[in-house]
Amino acid sequence: MRKVLILLLVSAGFLMAQNFEYVGVKKCKMCHNKTKSGAQYKVWSESAHAKAFDTLKSDAAAKIMQERGLKTNAWEAPECLKCHTTGFGTGGYEVKDAAFWTPSDEDKAGKKAVKRMEGLKNVTCEACHGPGSTYKSMKIMKGIRAGTLEAEGTGLVVPTEATCKQCHNEESPSYKPFVYEERMAKIAHKIPADYGK
Ligand code: HEC
Ligand code: HEC
Ligand code: HEC
Ligand code: HEC
Repeated sequence: MRKVLILLLVSAGFLMAQNFEYVGVKKCKMCHNKTKSGAQYKVWSESAHAKAFDTLKSDAAAKIMQERGLKTNAWEAPECLKCHTTGFGTGGYEVKDAAFWTPSDEDKAGKKAVKRMEGLKNVTCEACHGPGSTYKSMKIMKGIRAGTLEAEGTGLVVPTEATCKQCHNEESPSYKPFVYEERMAKIAHKIPADYGK
């Protein structure tokens, strides 16, 4: 009997893991923009990560495309989107071919996919913290914070240096050596130590 129960729990966890979806940065903003708890949204919106998609429209990006013999626009190229947006190829969105960007009027699913991608532009909270559909509930968020609930199983990832290096690596055309502590200091968005005391 006991064995059966454990199996059921394990498979329920597995099903949940498959179901985490990216919800977009506006959802996180709703609760994470108050000064007293650290205004993580404001801090993020002033960081380079919030401009990562626009960077693909710059002259510098066009130059990189040219040097690599790539003929598409950088802001539509999977080679660039994978690090300059959120959830590319990991459940957020995919660009199977250039036709992705211009779905016909009849192509409802195609139109929906492009619209969804709009919410995943830039390196947003979910690029580091994981897709938020489950953990964004107030009850879960507060439980994790209070330590009464494990983050594991809610989709909330505890980001580490390895998370950063999914993008900050030599595959980047403009790679600069990555020192975690130095870079983390530039994007620090901690909850103030005296908050909730
Ligand atoms: C309904 C409100 C709400 C939403 C939506 C929400 N959060 Fe939270 N989150 C909280 C609260 C409340 C806490 C506890 C700390 C606090 O009071 O600010 C928290 C804590 C956290 C923590 C710290 C957890 C820990 O280990 O202590 C992270 C990381 C986090 N949220 C990320 C996110 C991200 C990313 C999103 C968007 C996908 C998001 N949250 C959406 C309310 C929310
Ligand atoms: C999904 C990909 C991705 C992840 C994950 C990621 N970054 Fe970035 N990061 C970028 C991109 C792209 C830029 C360039 C943005 C621009 O200038 O347009 C960048 C820029 C930065 C910058 C600004 C450059 C500078 O040094 O002034 C800092 C700081 C930074 N990242 C820190 C981090 C840290 C720390 C982590 C992990 C906690 C991390 N990044 C995770 C993609 C990512
Ligand atoms: C493996 C992840 C990755 C890929 C793939 C990637 N980038 Fe980046 N890009 C970054 C990171 C990270 C930075 C921030 C530079 C840093 O601090 O290391 C960045 C910065 C930039 C910058 C700002 C220049 C600078 O020196 O800061 C431009 C322009 C750029 N990328 C264009 C592109 C283009 C165009 C493509 C596609 C051909 C592309 N990137 C593909 C991760 C990537
Ligand atoms: C580039 C990766 C990255 C992005 C983007 C990012 N975070 Fe974080 N976040 C981290 C890391 C790493 C930590 C742990 C920092 C530490 O321990 O010093 C963290 C910590 C937090 C914490 C807990 C702070 C504490 O004091 O315990 C909250 C809340 C949070 N992030 C919310 C957000 C929200 C909301 C967004 C988007 C508006 C966001 N983060 C964007 C990487 C990121």
